[in-house]
Amino acid sequence: MPLCFEKNMTIKIDVRGENGMLDIRNERKEDYSIVEEITRKAFYNVYVPGCMEHYLVHVMRDHEDFIPELDFVLERDGQVIGNIMYTKAKLTDEDGTEKEILTFGPVSVLPEYQRNGYGKLLINHSCQKAAELGFDVIVILGSPANYVSCGFQCCKKYNVCVEGGKYPAAMLVKELKEGALDGRKWYYSESPAMNIDEQAAVEFDDQLEPMEKKWTPSQEAFYIMSNSFVE
Ligand SMILES: CC(C)(COP(=O)(O)OP(=O)(O)OC[C@H]1O[C@@H](n2cnc3c(N)ncnc32)[C@H](O)[C@@H]1OP(=O)(O)O)[C@@H](O)C(=O)NCCC(=O)NCCS
Repeated sequence: MPLCFEKNMTIKIDVRGENGMLDIRNERKEDYSIVEEITRKAFYNVYVPGCMEHYLVHVMRDHEDFIPELDFVLERDGQVIGNIMYTKAKLTDEDGTEKEILTFGPVSVLPEYQRNGYGKLLINHSCQKAAELGFDVIVILGSPANYVSCGFQCCKKYNVCVEGGKYPAAMLVKELKEGALDGRKWYYSESPAMNIDEQAAVEFDDQLEPMEKKWTPSQEAFYIMSNSFVE
C-alpha cells in the first residue's frame, strides 16, 4: 500500500486500489460521539468481553492531565475512522525526582479499516507533534506488535519499571529526544485520569446501541501479555 505525505500533512493514500484522501487533525467537539463510537467498536471484546475505553474517552477529555493539542482524529475521504489521545504521566527516580512524560491511549481505528497502516500514521504524527510541544518521552502499555515499528522499545532497555521494580512485557518506551532517559532507574506512574469508575462505564455502555459481549481468543493473548514480565 503506497503512502505519500504532502507538505501540509494531508496524506494521499491508496488502499486496495481505491484512492482516498487522508487528513489528520485535532479532534473537535462535533467529533466526540463518533470518536467514542469508533473506540467502542475497535475495543469491544478485544481485551475483555465488552469494553470500557469509550467511557474513558468520554470522561478523560475533562481531566487536567489530558492534552487537547495531542488529541487527533484521522479522516478518510471526510469520514473520521481513527483517533489517538494523550495524557501526562510521570517517571520518578530512586531519589524521588519526578519527570513529566506522556502516555497515549486509547488509540483506535474502525475495525473495517484496521491493518492498513492508519494506526501507525496516527502514532507517528502524534509523536512528532509531542516532540514539537517539548515532550521527550512516551511510555505506553499495550500489545508490542502494534508499536515496535513506530520506534517503541522494551521498557527494560531504558530501565523504566513499575512499582516493585518489575518490567512488564507490555510496557514500551520511546525517547522523542535521544538521551532523555539517562540510564538511571525510573518508576512509571500513569495519570489518575485512567482510573475510571467501572460501574459508571457499564451504565454508559448500557445506554448505547446493544453490542454482544463475548469471549474471543485475543482476550487470552491479552491475559498472557499483561501478566508477563521481562527478566
Ligand atoms: C491498534 C490499532 C490502533 C492499530 O491500528 P491499525 O491501523 O490496525 O494498525 P496498522 O495497520 O497501522 O499497523 C501498525 C502495526 O501494528 C501491527 N498490527 C496491527 N494490528 C495487529 C494485530 N491485531 N496483531 C498483531 N499486529 C498488529 C501491524 O502489523 C503493524 O506493524 P508493522 O508496521 O510492523 O507491520 C487498531 O488495530 C485498533 O484500533 N485496535 C483495537 C483497539 C486497540 O487494541 N488499541 C490499542 C490498545 S493497546
